[in-house]
Amino acid sequence: MIKVLFVCLGNICRSPLAEGIFQDLVKNEDLENKISCNSCGTSHYHIGELAHHLSRDVAVRNGLELTHKARQLKTEDFSEFDYLIAMDNQNIQNMKNLRGADKTKQNIFLMREFDNVKSKKAVSDPYGGDESDFDECYEILHESCKNFLNQLKVNHNL
Ligand code: 4NP
Repeated sequence: MIKVLFVCLGNICRSPLAEGIFQDLVKNEDLENKISCNSCGTSHYHIGELAHHLSRDVAVRNGLELTHKARQLKTEDFSEFDYLIAMDNQNIQNMKNLRGADKTKQNIFLMREFDNVKSKKAVSDPYGGDESDFDECYEILHESCKNFLNQLKVNHNL
């Protein structure tokens, strides 16, 4: 099983939406027995909460239901998951601080390494924004998740 973890700060806006989008793409490709995913935040701020209502709303507008409850990144995640996909560079810094010395597995990536132009920009945090900010976030995540899944299919001969 190829295991993917989407990571943001609060695990209520960006990463649960990425998880929902990616899970749906995996299902549509009949790859659920080969690829699994989850999400988490680097902070403890929203542990146990459902995704932000505007993240759940944009998901529903696109035919998805987000049921994930927020959890915090833990050290075991670095060995448990094959791909840890961060939303911005602050997430990556927080992840590296938690990971500490064990750098054996080079498994941390930026979500927008996989957008159409490999921009490596941040997936901007829509927290505090309005519906249109969440729509924009959805579009960026959808594009990036599609390309990431295609990359996985090539890399793993799926
Ligand atoms: P997320 O957005 O990292 O995409 O889940 C945020 C959610 C909450 C906070 C910051 C970002 N917060 O500071 O509570």
